[in-house]
Amino acid sequence: MTQLLDLLDQFTHQHDQNRLVYNQDWLANQRDLIFLGQRCGATAIVDDYGNVYLDFPGQINDQPVATGSHMDTVKYGGRYDGLYGVLGGFCAIQQLYEQHGIPKHPIRLISFSEEEGNRFLAAFTGSKYYTGTLQIEKLLDNQGITFDEARRLAVTQLQHLPYVKAQHVALPVTFTELHIEQGPRLAQNNKKIGLVTGIVAQNRYEVTVHGQANHAGTTPMAQRQDAIATASLLMTKLYALAADTAEDLTFTIGEIHVSPNVSNVVAESCRFTIDCRANTNDQLMTFVTKMLQLLEQSKRTSVIETLHVPATRLSDDLLTQNAALATQMNYSYQTLFSGAGHDSQIMSSFVPTTMIFVPSEAGISHAPAEYTKPADLLTGVTLLSASLFMQANG
Ligand code: GLV
Ligand code: MN
Ligand code: MN
Ligand code: MN
Repeated sequence: MTQLLDLLDQFTHQHDQNRLVYNQDWLANQRDLIFLGQRCGATAIVDDYGNVYLDFPGQINDQPVATGSHMDTVKYGGRYDGLYGVLGGFCAIQQLYEQHGIPKHPIRLISFSEEEGNRFLAAFTGSKYYTGTLQIEKLLDNQGITFDEARRLAVTQLQHLPYVKAQHVALPVTFTELHIEQGPRLAQNNKKIGLVTGIVAQNRYEVTVHGQANHAGTTPMAQRQDAIATASLLMTKLYALAADTAEDLTFTIGEIHVSPNVSNVVAESCRFTIDCRANTNDQLMTFVTKMLQLLEQSKRTSVIETLHVPATRLSDDLLTQNAALATQMNYSYQTLFSGAGHDSQIMSSFVPTTMIFVPSEAGISHAPAEYTKPADLLTGVTLLSASLFMQANG
């Protein structure tokens, strides 16, 4: 099973990962995954949004049990978010077939095209397309390339690889996602495994403050429409509001674009993102209502909602089954609620879904310093393999 570490090395050669959906790195890695699966006897399928499915046979040819995660990363991301669930899922399936032969039901590995919402302002597009819940409007990346243009160019290349089937496939009977925790709890509590009870509610917005570009030296302070001055004041008020709301609310302004972004020009516009999350829909909506009121009071400010995902409860039955397996295998575990969003959130509305977490050193994620000890990565894979064995033979 050193294979997992080799595969992770092969799929991530630079320090930080920029595998944004449909870019060259993304394409190379989805292609390498297809070849890897085909070499191991899987049927490779690619749908029109670039989700890659590797189907491994069962004794009965019915709907598969599935595992997997997303292939994209955030900008300047780490090596494990998403990719660990894909390559770890692959290794877990290999381990199962090596140890036990062909299971009763087929097993599917899914490498979702996109989950992070970093190239385009739409997130979870892979799992939403798979589950038939994607509604996409015209979206542009920072280079002005449309989502559809980027999608067609990349997906056609994957769909034309030898022996690849280009089609949409039916949903599996269960879905299990292996992932790094992305927070500090498992490492702090010295636990090897996290079993996920549910996932946060999350909304994202894009806010644009409009001003008037003008000369920095000649425009009297009282006569300016300075987009940065307005936006920075607004941001301070928003952070204060978030701090005053529910304890478990998270609020992040992670991206700011200023135009024209010139030192001696009063800013014409300032566009920034908001990511806010809470453990319950009610907590999130209470905050969102106040937040939108505050934004409405600001002149020349427009707001669009770019993501809304309700809080999600994952399968109790699958969690109980995995807890029993972890106990049998002597892996210390705890149950966790996830503050990170996952494809499992989308899948769980359609099929019983569960997640297995492994520790993140120092709780760092969405950054190049993201790290999980090799032994912990392998523990997650071994538990996933045992879990898939139970599910595929049930
Ligand atoms: C996805 O990883 C998210 O939680 O932002
Ligand atoms: Mn992820
Ligand atoms: Mn992520
Ligand atoms: Mn001048």
